[in-house]
Amino acid sequence: MSPVFACMAASCDDYRRLAERRLPRFLFDYIDGGAGDEQTLAANCRDFQQVHLRQRVLCDVDNVDTRCELIGQPASMPLALAPLGMAGLYARRGEVQAARAAATAGVPFGLSTVGICSLAEVHAASAQKCWFQLYMLRDREAVQGLLQQALANGCDTLLFTVDLAVAGIRRRDMRNGMLDGTWRGKLAKATQLMQRPGWLLDVGIRGKPHHFGNLTDRVVDPNDLRAFKAWLDAQFDPCVTWSDIRWLREQWPGKLILKGILEPDDALRALDCGADGIVLSNHGGRQLDGVSSTIRQLPKVAEALDRRLPILVDGGIRSGVDILKALALGAQGVMIGRPWAWALAAGGEAAVERLLSSLGSELAVAMALCGVRNLGQVDASLVDSGLAENRIL
Ligand SMILES: Cc1cc2nc3c(=O)[nH]c(=O)nc-3n(C[C@H](O)[C@H](O)[C@H](O)COP(=O)(O)O)c2cc1C
Repeated sequence: MSPVFACMAASCDDYRRLAERRLPRFLFDYIDGGAGDEQTLAANCRDFQQVHLRQRVLCDVDNVDTRCELIGQPASMPLALAPLGMAGLYARRGEVQAARAAATAGVPFGLSTVGICSLAEVHAASAQKCWFQLYMLRDREAVQGLLQQALANGCDTLLFTVDLAVAGIRRRDMRNGMLDGTWRGKLAKATQLMQRPGWLLDVGIRGKPHHFGNLTDRVVDPNDLRAFKAWLDAQFDPCVTWSDIRWLREQWPGKLILKGILEPDDALRALDCGADGIVLSNHGGRQLDGVSSTIRQLPKVAEALDRRLPILVDGGIRSGVDILKALALGAQGVMIGRPWAWALAAGGEAAVERLLSSLGSELAVAMALCGVRNLGQVDASLVDSGLAENRIL
């Protein structure tokens, strides 16, 4: 199927299938895969099915309104695009295309530290300021430099990712040769590339440069990807603790959101450290396989925080119905990762726009059929009561 059919996609799964046909295997697997046996990855989606909404009738649901504030920023619906590394390989200058689509849809876009496009490139191309995602680097001067770049490019919300002390073990990346620097790995990747000539021309050749845009001034030759990767691997800092969060809080004048909190105790510590919000996340099942799904953790974390800190939740959100379930269980909003990656790969900016528009419509329909007209009316009474009290999940 050619990407032109992205205009007919009606669900996240449709975009996923299109992305699979468009991308070289190792890249599709990089997006699609998770850690270990991918049990947490599967649970993230599956556990949404165990949450049951309550259908309400005869409530006058004319003019359903999905508008809201997300971490203090107005948005057309309670959703933001989660930061994804290397999105400039999913489509030509992918971060720019996705940021534009997010701006059109009126929702925030999260740019990864390891995005292909830089903060400046995204800022220049999009009508909306983005949220910047930061990984802690050993070189704290480099971190300060990134914070300066973010501020200089109008960014006022920092997503600081805390669930990547070390990289999770992703078997698909081993099997398909992505992590293999020997001739065998190179041959495997070359074979997969040759099977996707459309991607090769459009993204592989015309989409250059392919280095990590926010980090180019840190390495001697940004075009030497192996040197770049070696620098980055050495820079990831597993020694980060809560005292670094306090340090970051002093450095960063904008909103500070900790991304990758899964346990109530950690959520309370985030509150203690002066964070402005959390993203309840297990990195889309890409880090520790065997941890709970995020939707399962949400009621516990919401109860512990007791509305003192906004919660965004990500992992497995694939429809407007899922968004409503997350809100009913205590989230202020959600982030989506793979769905926008698949749409971007399937049909670029237009497809991401279409995906976001569908998710907004699905949310509005779900709200109407649950008998609510605005998000202020969404609470635990919308879901089966056993769940709201955290008994079923
Ligand atoms: C391909 C891919 C790359 C990712 N890269 C990053 C990243 O650079 N920084 C980060 O904080 N999270 C990253 N994540 C995690 C996402 O931000 C998000 O937490 C996750 O994708 C949500 O789950 P979902 O894909 O089921 O929506 C990545 C996820 C995927 C799938």
